[in-house]
Amino acid sequence: MTGFTIRDVTVETIADHLDGLAEVLHASVHMGASVSFILPFSIEDSQRFWRAKVVPSVTAGGRVLLAAIAEERVAGTVQLDVDLPPNQAHRGEVAKLLVHPDFRKQGIARALMETLENRARGLGKTLITLDTRTGDKAEPLYRSLGYLVAGTIPNFARAPETPDRLDATTYMYKLL
Ligand SMILES: CC(C)(COP(=O)(O)OP(=O)(O)OC[C@H]1O[C@@H](n2cnc3c(N)ncnc32)[C@H](O)[C@@H]1OP(=O)(O)O)[C@@H](O)C(=O)NCCC(=O)NCCS
Repeated sequence: MTGFTIRDVTVETIADHLDGLAEVLHASVHMGASVSFILPFSIEDSQRFWRAKVVPSVTAGGRVLLAAIAEERVAGTVQLDVDLPPNQAHRGEVAKLLVHPDFRKQGIARALMETLENRARGLGKTLITLDTRTGDKAEPLYRSLGYLVAGTIPNFARAPETPDRLDATTYMYKLL
């Protein structure tokens, strides 16, 4: 069991965390996580994602980014996308809840989600939405945190390691 702390990654600190964040995403995809990418997925692909998609959004204030730090490494991460249309300013969307395979089953994902919900409340959000591959480990975690299933969509995303397989996704929500 490793000790960990949850940190807000801000415009001031994001550059220091980019390599660690890229490593967590890269390792998770290679362990079969269905989080936008399919194999082959190099560490450079992962670094490009954080630089091109996440840094601009955090810089513009459109995204809350958290990192779990353990043994001076990025052990896990999660985002809340708040760059939503004016009629959904009360909503936030969870993205890329990832825990590095070296640090799983120690409560890091749960702690990341609880901290993210506190940040959402602090921003005046009253609804959180997310989607997760149907049947993944994350689904019972979200249920135990109080998320309800809105519905399931078949053939939603290609499986990372078997791109000719199309997996379903489950949409979930929580009223804060
Ligand atoms: C899903 C994931 C984030 C869980 O991270 P974690 O830090 O291991 O999760 P936690 O230790 O906080 O576990 C929280 C709960 O999740 C469930 N859980 C976590 N790992 C599990 C496993 N291997 N098998 C069964 N249940 C598991 C348990 O219900 C656990 O409940 P508990 O707190 O009562 O024990 C991690 O496995 C991961 O990064 N997976 C790949 C990426 C992914 O699928 N992300 C979700 C995208 S929507």
